[in-house]
Amino acid sequence: MPEVDFEFACLASDIPENGAKNVNLNGLEITIFHTLNRFVAHSGVCKHNGFKLELCEITGDSVVCPLHGWKYSISTGKGIKPSWTALETYPVAARGEELWVKPEAENSGADEFDTSAFDW
Ligand code: FES
Repeated sequence: MPEVDFEFACLASDIPENGAKNVNLNGLEITIFHTLNRFVAHSGVCKHNGFKLELCEITGDSVVCPLHGWKYSISTGKGIKPSWTALETYPVAARGEELWVKPEAENSGADEFDTSAFDW
């Protein structure tokens, strides 16, 4: 399998503290969060029903989707509410003012059980 390289995503100044920005890299929608003085990248949409995470409310280390209240840890991508879900996480590298993201998930982002039978 070919090595996936980091790709330029945006400028650090594009994302204010306690903000987020969605970027599309290799066809993947990825959200870059700026909180607690660092940048973290996860899959770009809520696992419940696809709402863009860049539009969600960020408080400290958590992001809450306004549609139905699903909540995630920004540090880990793990679900807080519900706890059995998770976002994919992507490596971020700061090169001067530029943020580069490797569009290859570090984790599967899989739920802890099969939710495919649920009708959200
Ligand atoms: S779409 Fe995010 S909680 Fe429903």
